[in-house]
Amino acid sequence: MGNCLACGSTVETVLDFGKMPIANGFLHEEDFPDEFFHHLQICFCPDCSMVQIAEPVDPVMQYHENYAYFASTSSRMRTHFNAAAIQIRSLLKHRADPFIVEIGSNDGIMLQRFAKDGVRHLGVEPSQNVANEAVRNGVSTQCSFFDESTATEILRKHGPADAIYGANVVTHIPDIHSVMAAVEILLEDDGYFILEDPYLGDVLEKTAYDQFYDEHVFYFCLSSLQNLLGKHGMTIVDVEPQQVHGGSMRYFAMKKAKPSTYRLETLQRREKDLGLSQAATFRGLNDRISASKDQLVTILSNLNRERKRVVGYGATAKSSIVTNFCGIGPDLIEFISDTTPIKQNKFSPGTHIPVKPYDAFVEDYPDYAVLFAWNHCGEILAKEELFLKQGGRFITFVPDVRILEYPGSAND
Ligand code: TYD
Repeated sequence: MGNCLACGSTVETVLDFGKMPIANGFLHEEDFPDEFFHHLQICFCPDCSMVQIAEPVDPVMQYHENYAYFASTSSRMRTHFNAAAIQIRSLLKHRADPFIVEIGSNDGIMLQRFAKDGVRHLGVEPSQNVANEAVRNGVSTQCSFFDESTATEILRKHGPADAIYGANVVTHIPDIHSVMAAVEILLEDDGYFILEDPYLGDVLEKTAYDQFYDEHVFYFCLSSLQNLLGKHGMTIVDVEPQQVHGGSMRYFAMKKAKPSTYRLETLQRREKDLGLSQAATFRGLNDRISASKDQLVTILSNLNRERKRVVGYGATAKSSIVTNFCGIGPDLIEFISDTTPIKQNKFSPGTHIPVKPYDAFVEDYPDYAVLFAWNHCGEILAKEELFLKQGGRFITFVPDVRILEYPGSAND
């Protein structure tokens, strides 16, 4: 048993996925022999309720010049981050010359708006390739990890930040206290620390076990995050559920507390009902995950026996967990279609399913497509009207395993 990365207490292992590759580690055939695997176990801390990975992977294995995640690949994500920028702008509207810092600013998808409007901003992004893309997009970006020394340097050069924003990034950093200390250093006394991550309550409710992978070191909920922020003199003053990434939560924290909102109280009640502060809740998730795996493998094996063509849609990091955990390889899924150039013509981590450009999907529609990018379901169904009209069907596994009906067809 290890110790909680947030509070130091002894943690309890609640989920065990076995041997897993790096979820975004799409690779060439010549790299198969050297592929890195780790033991993916998820723990729960009975003292501060933090759900976390038992043994975080060395970040050097994950965030490098070939990092495969580009935030701007989805139009919905572009809309989402534009809306986030508008909201932050509105929070700071009475400030004369606000300064916004984003942790893990990726390709500049959120900060672009500030860059266009001539607002002082800085993105801090550790992966050089996505940082370069941000700079090409006109976004001020520095390529580094966000820690105390980075924060001190930014403070010296630019002064304190009125808002520090981090979407899908803080949960990725094992040395969480270093990030929090950096925020303490850089944040203006009345500034906002805004965090946004997949919400543990949604993972639980939807059996979205594919959210458990190496990059996600922590799985936040209101109570665990409040415990963590409290150690750094910050309080969560508001929350706002988000639809992206399969169900996320945006938390607003400040150094000086404000009265709690109705939304905070509602979320506290939801977390109590879900049992997010009890290890037994997560142990119970095991049975649902096993059932989901059996059902998905059964559907795919049956389609294989019927000689149907099945491909994957979206080479998501999440898909790496599903295919590896369920033992789904190229025998069951011909290829995975993905619009991200850096993933194309490579193979999926661990299971080595070929990843092909989107054209491969359109040029020869399969009978079925496993919706690995289920978090973009609405956008994809709208885009794939022709595939559906021609009789193609999507298979999903969140919140349950099923073949999606096509409302436009009389046969469904
Ligand atoms: P993402 O939602 O970031 O999930 P994860 O964090 O698990 O990687 O990834 C979506 C992936 O799906 C990305 O590689 C782009 C791809 N994609 C398509 O190929 N077509 C689409 O229409 C959409 C919306 C995404």
